[in-house]
Amino acid sequence: MLLVHAMNMQTPISPAAIPFAVPSSRWDDSAAAAMSPAQLLLYRSNLLGSDLTVTNFGGGNTSAKLTEIDPLTGEAAEVLWVKGSGGDIGSMKLDGFATLYQAKLLGLEALYAGPDDDDKMVGYLPHCTFNLNTRTASIDTPLHSLLPFAHVDHVHPDAIIALAASSGGEVATQEIWSGKIGWLGWKRPGYTLGVQLRDYVAANPDLEGVMLAGHGIICWADNAKACYDHTVALIADAANYLNGKLAAAPAFGGQVTAPNPDRAAIAADLMPRLRGLMTGDRRKLGHFSDDAEALEFTGSAQFERLAAVGTSCPDHFLRTKIAPLTLDPSRLKDDAYLSEKIAAYRAMYAAYYQRCKRANSPAMRDANPVVVLVSGIGRITFATDKTTARLAGEFYGNAINVMRGAEAIGDYTGLDEQEAFDIEYWLLEEAKLQRMPAPKPMVGKVALVTGGAGGIGAATAARLMADGTCVMLADRDAAALEEVLSGFAKQYGKDVIRAAVCDVTDEAQVQAAFDLCAREFGGLDILVANAGIASSAPIEETTVALWRKNYDVLAEGYFLTSRAAWPLLKAMKDQGGTSVVFIGSKNALAAAAGASAYASAKAAANHLARCLALEGAPEGIRVNVVNPDAVIRGSKIWDGDWRQERAGAHGIDAGKELEEHYRQRSLLKRDVLPEDIAEAVYFLASDMSAKSTGNMINVDAGNAQAFTR
Ligand SMILES: NC(=O)c1ccc[n+]([C@@H]2O[C@H](COP(=O)([O-])OP(=O)(O)OC[C@H]3O[C@@H](n4cnc5c(N)ncnc54)[C@H](O)[C@@H]3O)[C@@H](O)[C@H]2O)c1
Ligand SMILES: [Zn+2]
Repeated sequence: MLLVHAMNMQTPISPAAIPFAVPSSRWDDSAAAAMSPAQLLLYRSNLLGSDLTVTNFGGGNTSAKLTEIDPLTGEAAEVLWVKGSGGDIGSMKLDGFATLYQAKLLGLEALYAGPDDDDKMVGYLPHCTFNLNTRTASIDTPLHSLLPFAHVDHVHPDAIIALAASSGGEVATQEIWSGKIGWLGWKRPGYTLGVQLRDYVAANPDLEGVMLAGHGIICWADNAKACYDHTVALIADAANYLNGKLAAAPAFGGQVTAPNPDRAAIAADLMPRLRGLMTGDRRKLGHFSDDAEALEFTGSAQFERLAAVGTSCPDHFLRTKIAPLTLDPSRLKDDAYLSEKIAAYRAMYAAYYQRCKRANSPAMRDANPVVVLVSGIGRITFATDKTTARLAGEFYGNAINVMRGAEAIGDYTGLDEQEAFDIEYWLLEEAKLQRMPAPKPMVGKVALVTGGAGGIGAATAARLMADGTCVMLADRDAAALEEVLSGFAKQYGKDVIRAAVCDVTDEAQVQAAFDLCAREFGGLDILVANAGIASSAPIEETTVALWRKNYDVLAEGYFLTSRAAWPLLKAMKDQGGTSVVFIGSKNALAAAAGASAYASAKAAANHLARCLALEGAPEGIRVNVVNPDAVIRGSKIWDGDWRQERAGAHGIDAGKELEEHYRQRSLLKRDVLPEDIAEAVYFLASDMSAKSTGNMINVDAGNAQAFTR
């Protein structure tokens, strides 16, 4: 649920450990009946990957050695179909597989002289491509090509890594599978691991799979269904075994800190301050979770000790960095303490880089923590975009599961520091990073748009999201908000959009919307104060109620939202500053007969913007105004009484004549659209206007009365 994200305030933490999910086969013979061999491989991969009890996001790869017709010779050729680099086996399509001549892959061994050749071997893979397939083969390809089996699965489910990352894992593996599953010591993925695996399996012909220490499992079968069922059964065996051990004692030495009932509010207060301290090349987005895993782990006796060990398998480690930052829950209000902790983390990271770097290592990357853990509060993750921040949190959740299982059968063992470094700063990984397209200009920024369910508000949100901004919509119209929200979630993805039902005249609701924004995204960079109404009445017919309604929404509403935004914006002072944009009106500048309550309230808001520009400057907060006029299409204001009232005031028909009237009234004789207003807001919200504050842009197709001076 994205709308007014209800926090699960009372996640019960039972004294018993959280058990591992036990997967069961979801294979459907009737669905599979008509599939081609390649489609069966895809079906099996999607079944494995979309079941998060089987494997974590993106985790693992699958393959099949199939007979294809060689386009050059017209003859049959054995082709390895193997999941390509990147992507996720749960959601991949057929084009996610690399296809390579199996004979050429086997021939590569002639070019291999030893472990130092691992990187070189990756470079040969494209030469083995079958049928001009552009999908890049992954570094795990040798694991699949060198094993002499038709169907091979390699996955990293929590229950399996728990065995793979425990001092008791090898013994447990023997006990669970009575020798049918082998055990290979840690080796970084690559060609050498493929050769070791092949030789090990050749020497132990009765094996049905092999545990890869610190990593995952690889197993095989003669056909797609058997391979899938085998993989699922192995995971279920591991989960059942661990669950038996976990039932005997509470996880992580038992609970010592109960979940804090105020944790949602505490996270909202903490996240923007942490985000502000995480200076670097790019702004961070935050993701908060107080799920059962996070509370169980951070509240346990072994929390600090295990957190310091860091993560184990490469997948977890690459997403969450060498180790999390842990904070003392009693000192979260203390900015100096937070600043010290971040500085200490950065120093720790720099020291790790110095200790482990090699002559040709790429330059040190961002040293800020990715995972921040607080006892009784939960887990906060930071990354340069929201999806990456969320995934880092989910991966740390996997890491917690791994630690729980690993500790139940022995000691949890982290990845060796130098090995971790070699993976993090692997030259091929660096090349991949260098090839990534530059992020969109607003990625890393968060905007809150009031009146976001309306014409101008929604257009503004869309413009900001199109360039990568995360947006929190706030509007009092819940139904309209829900509709805009679901449309945006489809168009821009669920991660980057949230919404809060909020009446900007209600102090508590305004605060709640900003708290939600802080908790969902980590803070705020842009406020667009836009929620508004319009009314029209001659002075003698202006009731006190009508007067107050205009001032409540247009003056006090802008005040309340600005005040609530202020601490969040101030927190970003050292990161290039922030921006407030007020949607004013032509009527704030030009007097309007018969609309004095509306026009004077708009003028009050515009003057508030100037005052705030003055107050905000030392804090790096810019405050500017966009003055629209006659934005008829898309505006709900113009659907209501205002349309009749204005038509009456101008003595014209409220239908087509009205739009023509406003068009002709403008100097440029053009319609003004919500997208036109959005473009001006975007300019003032972005760094393109970094040198402007206390300014105004009229977007009204030209109106001499409203010329600024
Ligand atoms: N449309 C125009 O011609 C025009 C001209 C000048 C200024 N403006 C200003 O532009 C802004 C947006 O107007 P629009 O044309 O998109 O209208 P709109 O009615 O389409 O959108 C306004 C949105 O604000 C919301 N809203 C109203 N009161 C609220 C409150 N108390 N709390 C929270 N949300 C509230 C509404 O539910 C609506 O979704 C307003 O401030 C308006 O005064 C519009
Ligand atoms: Zn792997």
